[in-house]
Amino acid sequence: MKFQVLLIALVLIAIEANAAKQGKNATIPALIVFGDSIMDTGNNNNLPTLLKCNFPPYGKDFPGGSATGRFSDGRVPSDLIAEKLGLAKTLPAYMNPDLKPEDLLKGVTFASGGTGYDPLTAQMMSVISVWDQLIYFKEYISKIKKHFGEEKAKDILENSFFVVVSSSNDLAHTYLARALTYDRTSYPNFLADTAVQFVRELYKLGARRIGVFSAVPVGCVPLQRTVFGGLLTRGCNHLLNNMAKQFNSRLSPALDSLDKELDGVILYIDVYETLYDMIQYPKKYGFEVADRGCCGKGTLAISYLCNAFNPFTCTNSSAYIFWDTYHPTERAYQVIVDSLLDKYLKKLY
Ligand SMILES: *[C@@H]1O[C@H](CO)[C@@H](O)[C@H](O)[C@H]1NC(C)=O
Ligand SMILES: *[C@@H]1O[C@H](CO)[C@@H](O)[C@H](O)[C@H]1NC(C)=O
Repeated sequence: MKFQVLLIALVLIAIEANAAKQGKNATIPALIVFGDSIMDTGNNNNLPTLLKCNFPPYGKDFPGGSATGRFSDGRVPSDLIAEKLGLAKTLPAYMNPDLKPEDLLKGVTFASGGTGYDPLTAQMMSVISVWDQLIYFKEYISKIKKHFGEEKAKDILENSFFVVVSSSNDLAHTYLARALTYDRTSYPNFLADTAVQFVRELYKLGARRIGVFSAVPVGCVPLQRTVFGGLLTRGCNHLLNNMAKQFNSRLSPALDSLDKELDGVILYIDVYETLYDMIQYPKKYGFEVADRGCCGKGTLAISYLCNAFNPFTCTNSSAYIFWDTYHPTERAYQVIVDSLLDKYLKKLY
């Protein structure tokens, strides 16, 4: 008798725990993303910019092998985070003209490859600035209201996870055009302050769970190694990495105080350390190559230089951290996104 009671109790606890887990997972209705090529799933496809990649071999490891405009061999972090949150395997690009109203419900990405926090970055690259992404976000919310009602729009605003990822293009490219006005400290500081301002705007529009990615060790991407790393050594560009660290050291405490000041959850999400460690110790993570991209010869190929006519593209992209000379492979992204779960995503529930 005692044993039976115990057994029933255990079963009840198990059912409850399972329900709680599912319920928890279900409290985030959508993932809404802003930023650059790390998060873009095809928003640049119809823009008059050179920064696009909706042609092979981009997408060679994507379901169906299709080149969707993602800057990788497969899925990108917008997709992988949406999957982690139990929403969908891929996250649609808001600019995709084929989207139906229902496709908006689990969230979208407004991210545009080549953009940055500095408005000059998007202007130089003819892509969508993060501020214009906010304008599209307002349009998105009015579409949700129109098709699904005020309550649904409120649910999406209050409970979705909002992610912002930018700064690489500012640091690696726009800084060179800004060097008369800024130095290696004041420019990253300006970018971090702009990121904080962006979070405040997003909050004003109703977002309550916001995560901002740190800068990455952009000085270690294969292109930076080729151009600045020395002909034979091809080391990382440490000056650039130091600017990324400066950005992070300004952003992190600013977001922490924003988290205390505002309702909801504001997260600083560090991805610098994980990616840097992967690049230093690729074998530890099951990678073989860290200093070249898979596409082409992997030292210069990006965007239109990474194309189907380039005969040198590797066959097994899983062995590479970088897909082209700038962007990680899906498998490298997966390692990074997996590392976020315990540290950050759990804080959302
Ligand atoms: C949410 O559910 C998905 C699918 O069941 C799972 O893979 C993921 O780890 C869950 N996320 C969290 C934060 O528990
Ligand atoms: C691709 O590379 C990964 C990592 O080195 C390895 O685990 C996998 O077996 C390789 N796949 C093929 C088909 O060679």
